[in-house]
Amino acid sequence: MRERAEHGPEWRSRPPGYRERVTSSPPLVDSFGRVVRDLRISVTDRCSFRCTYCMPAEGLQWLPRDQLLSFEEITRVARLMVERFGLESVRLTGGEPTVRADLPVLVEMLAGLGVDLAMTTNGATLGLLADKLRRAGLGRINISCDSLRPERFAEMTRRDALGRVLDGIDAAVDAGFDPVKVNAVIIRGVNDDEVVDIAAFGRDKGVQPRFIEFMPLDADGGWTKDQVVPAQEIVDAIDAVFPLEPAWRGPEPAARWRYRDGAGEIGVIASVTQPFCASCDRVRLTAEGQFRSCLFAVREADLRTVLRSGGSDDDLAAAIVDEVGRKWAGHSIGKVSFVRPARSMSQIGG
Ligand code: 5AD
Ligand code: SF4
Repeated sequence: MRERAEHGPEWRSRPPGYRERVTSSPPLVDSFGRVVRDLRISVTDRCSFRCTYCMPAEGLQWLPRDQLLSFEEITRVARLMVERFGLESVRLTGGEPTVRADLPVLVEMLAGLGVDLAMTTNGATLGLLADKLRRAGLGRINISCDSLRPERFAEMTRRDALGRVLDGIDAAVDAGFDPVKVNAVIIRGVNDDEVVDIAAFGRDKGVQPRFIEFMPLDADGGWTKDQVVPAQEIVDAIDAVFPLEPAWRGPEPAARWRYRDGAGEIGVIASVTQPFCASCDRVRLTAEGQFRSCLFAVREADLRTVLRSGGSDDDLAAAIVDEVGRKWAGHSIGKVSFVRPARSMSQIGG
């Protein structure tokens, strides 16, 4: 019998009427029976912000340009995964993805693959880019915004940019992204008093907040469990003011809740208190072409070397299959066996 992957509700399933794609080879399945359907691609390790939990004030040692995968290399990996393994969704991340020059060109190339194409951004440049990205074929967008108070926002990101991010959220709504999701990492003693304000903001603007538990992927290794605000506490705080009921939950990590008065929904991502590793369907490609089977993985497969040494699609596929085969059951945050990855979120891709 197969060993079962750690954690996670068994009832998460595909939506009614869902059909697997027909592909030329079997789907990518790990040794715990989880099927890979989602690829997160980091397009740069650079960022225009310096969120205190992600980067030091002076930034990190950025990758030299020639070490980043080109748009053609990125598209080759994504295409292979779509055509051979039935990959269904791609999300662009960073660092900050819009810092990469000509991002709409990459979006257009990936949109041609016919997958669900999404992006996570800090939102600061969306005033200029939202419409272009939408027209290039970007389907969905998540904008990070951890505080709605200008001074606190500036403290958390080390940039006085709340106004620009709010304009970016408006620009994303105006460009027709629907829903626009707003990611907020909630940290005890830092912004946990804003949970209800962020929910109210979502209701007013018609955007969906995604409250994220703080994970041990911070810049300075100072993470402690008491900084984590459990998702249940977040839901309870909102429910007390704007009553909630559970909404259908798909394969995504967010547990979804909708307002009983019909004013939209929220999501909570309980990576720490209720890990969803058992139903994880994602893998990652870092900006420099390392393939990771888990955000917390301690090893990677070097696809860039395969790509740049004249490797065939079969070689690439073999490296991917091998790495997926090594995917572990779960991250075990909070247990003695937890090993912190050597990189922070911006270097892996959120
Ligand atoms: N824990 C939780 N979320 C994080 N992010 C960055 N670092 C962490 C962390 N340690 C979030 C960002 C952004 C997304 C890409 O990941 O705030 O919303
Ligand atoms: Fe940039 Fe995102 Fe890291 Fe903040 S969390 S510094 S926006 S990559």
